[in-house]
Amino acid sequence: MDPVRNPYAPGAGTPPPELAGRADIIVSGKTALQRTAAGKPTQSQILVGLRGVGKTVLLNKLNDDAETLNYKTAFIEAREGASLPELLAPSLRSILYTLSMVENAREKARRGLMGLKGFLNGLRVTISEVEFGISIDSEAGLADSGNIEADLPVLIATIGEAAKAAGRPVALFVDEMQYLASSEFSALIMSIHRINQKQLPFMLIGAGLPQIRALAGNSKSYSERLFRFPEIGALGTEEAIQAIEKPAIAEGVTFDRRAIEKILHITERYPYFLQQWAYESWNVADGNAISLADVEKASGPAIDELDQSFFKVRFDRCTPAERKYMRALAELGRGKHRSGDIAEKLGVKVTSVAPTRNSLIRKGMIYSPSHGDTAFTVPLFDEYMKRALPDFPIAADDE
Ligand SMILES: Nc1ncnc2c1ncn2[C@@H]1O[C@H](COP(=O)(O)OP(=O)(O)OP(=O)(O)O)[C@@H](O)[C@H]1O
Ligand SMILES: [Mg+2]
Repeated sequence: MDPVRNPYAPGAGTPPPELAGRADIIVSGKTALQRTAAGKPTQSQILVGLRGVGKTVLLNKLNDDAETLNYKTAFIEAREGASLPELLAPSLRSILYTLSMVENAREKARRGLMGLKGFLNGLRVTISEVEFGISIDSEAGLADSGNIEADLPVLIATIGEAAKAAGRPVALFVDEMQYLASSEFSALIMSIHRINQKQLPFMLIGAGLPQIRALAGNSKSYSERLFRFPEIGALGTEEAIQAIEKPAIAEGVTFDRRAIEKILHITERYPYFLQQWAYESWNVADGNAISLADVEKASGPAIDELDQSFFKVRFDRCTPAERKYMRALAELGRGKHRSGDIAEKLGVKVTSVAPTRNSLIRKGMIYSPSHGDTAFTVPLFDEYMKRALPDFPIAADDE
């Protein structure tokens, strides 16, 4: 069928034509935004889920909703090798400049900018004056101790004060939170603690892989009280059907029941895969109906496309030793497996592969669903590993 009219949208963070099955998250996110704006105590939210389930799409949706509610928003994406202060600096600066335009908030926003300057100096973050554009001095003792867990809460509180004075709530969206250092994560939690105590209109909405649960560390008891961690997963059957069917119907196209059932079965109702299969099925089909045979024909191109993009970008970031570890995990089949069993597959002691396992957790490839267990963070990655490295044990020249 005409690929130009193809409504499906496989891709990282690409808004789906039908955002199926997430109404409860959106409604509770919006309620939380409205409560925060009204200065009422509210739990911040951190969306937790595997790769490709739609976390970024939801953050973007809540960002749009926040803007509609007159929020000033900032969206940052954590990544390996970038510190939180570096990531935050441009967004916080822009928030403070916006707030400083409001007459009533000018002084407080200026103080926020001083706090930001001290915060960056204290942590020795070098951002050039030109890039940063703050021709303002820091205030001695304001957020400049060099300890992020002490300074960030002070800085965020000054921003919250400015937001309150301006009558303009602030929402900070943080994607890929699993890449934050434990002290950075903890600093964010403590900031929210401070904000809640002072009832300031500032809200944090985050997202990340399941390993973020372990990151809370020292601030665990706070985090359980201050945050909700809604789980984002595969869609339910009816929701997955809607995700496929609705966009087609809007284009005057129908999916045969068996075609849909086939897609649900292959994709296990994971959003990214649903988009990919529906997209390829549309492209191979003739006429205005998509049949089971079309879906079967589309599977080859769908798998090729995923292998070349969704799976491969992740595989490419891993060392040969890490790939070997993941291949052994794949060999054990679906789901979670005991770390001891993985080591046994590799013919080594658990302790000798512990560093490899840890670095894979840091890279966001695997996580520990429960103590001593290991599972992939990417759905269907076990099958991909077997396609990428068909032989196990891995032949020496493949390593
Ligand atoms: N509720 C939904 N219904 C249908 N499709 C969806 C839904 N949510 C997301 N998708 C689709 O799934 C794909 C992945 O979405 P997104 O990038 O937001 O996932 P993610 O959880 O952020 O993944 P990652 O962990 O890799 O960043 C996109 O193609 C998007 O259009
Ligand atoms: Mg994402």
